[in-house]
Amino acid sequence: MLPLEARRWRHIEAHVHAILRSFAYEEVQLPLLEFTELFARGVGEATDIVEKEMYTLADRDGDSLSLRPEGTASCVRALQEHGLLYNQTQRVFYSGPMFRYEKPQKGRYRQFYQIGAEAFGFDGPDVDAELIVMGAQFWQALGISERVYLEINTLGSGGAREAYRQALVDFLTPLAAELDEDSQRRLHTNPMRILDSKNEHTQSLLVDAPRLPDFVDADSQRHFTELRSLLDDFDVAYRINPNLVRGLDYYTHTVFEWLTDDLGAQGAVCAGGRYNGLVERLGGKATAAAGFAMGLDRVALLHEVVHQNAPSEAVDVYLCYGGEALMSAAQQAGVRLRAELSKQAAEPLKLRVHMGGGSFKKQLKRANASGAKWAILLGAEELNNNELTLKNLVDGSQQTLSEAALLMQLLQPNN
Ligand code: HAM
Repeated sequence: MLPLEARRWRHIEAHVHAILRSFAYEEVQLPLLEFTELFARGVGEATDIVEKEMYTLADRDGDSLSLRPEGTASCVRALQEHGLLYNQTQRVFYSGPMFRYEKPQKGRYRQFYQIGAEAFGFDGPDVDAELIVMGAQFWQALGISERVYLEINTLGSGGAREAYRQALVDFLTPLAAELDEDSQRRLHTNPMRILDSKNEHTQSLLVDAPRLPDFVDADSQRHFTELRSLLDDFDVAYRINPNLVRGLDYYTHTVFEWLTDDLGAQGAVCAGGRYNGLVERLGGKATAAAGFAMGLDRVALLHEVVHQNAPSEAVDVYLCYGGEALMSAAQQAGVRLRAELSKQAAEPLKLRVHMGGGSFKKQLKRANASGAKWAILLGAEELNNNELTLKNLVDGSQQTLSEAALLMQLLQPNN
């Protein structure tokens, strides 16, 4: 990750983290390696991820470990292990690299970066809506909301999903020979993923297949209707996609994906849903849960489509000094000013002290090249009078001030 790209990533991450924190989600940090068993049980034996995409290694004592392909199972494992899910609610987020052995292409990598959020202990549609609204706020804050749209679906309760799965297998088994190769394999392992198939002939066979919405139980339907009405209240537009089933096994009820048409085949920038059965499947007490993960690689590509230039990280203030003798005084003034600036603003101005001497003229040239709006000049006279000269590099005006008055000037809201 080279500086320009890293800058864009940090910009996106800072906005997303700030929004997560504003909803009172708290950060957790999860390990990169877990026992393979966790993902086999959590994500599902028959998923592409577990079947063929994990980076798995044997530990020195023979334990099988895998680089995490996603964060949800780890997150449940960690909170569960530390007693944080029992009879309480939690809202947490995590970020970091995930690993899947996929066919690399634009927007699809073997190491990619997710920011995920998970909420535990809430079974109502309000939390599903909160997670979706949070996503909408990300796109707004990043200026990409015009490029992203939302699809939602409900998978029903675990029982409804099972009944539907069976009906689908019964329907497709006599047609098996006509299915594409991937779908033939999935018929026995993960039949609902066949609905996702990109193969046209397979899709044509599915026209008369049993439909998931006909199997969804009344409680799930109610949950889904309430979610839709909440999304309407929040003015979040969505499309219902009855074929949206997701590639991980743990989902029940609501599933959703934020998609874009700007990144070719890798359209999902953020995806998630409810997974009420997972905590129990991983050995805990039955706990309602829902969450999502955003793919930062893809969001960054989309951000670049809209904002070609990486967000500016220009220097704000450039401190120049008159000759070698003042070098140390200039460095010290820099330290003092930075300390004051960071005390008084969450995102303090960035102050660079000139290095390497030279005339004021040469230093001011550097100041301009750095993109700074302000230069501070420290000459012998300023030093004697305990003052500094503040020069506005945009309009050329300048004034000589005490350090305190200069700080006031820099901290004015429109600076
Ligand atoms: P997922 O759909 O597998 O869900 O991944 C979520 C997002 O991660 C995708 O929408 C995509 O943006 C990004 N992503 C996935 N694979 C790649 C890849 N190979 N290269 C680049 N980006 C990728 C999950 O991982 C669930 N844990 C989400 C969740 C959290 N559900 C509930 N809570």
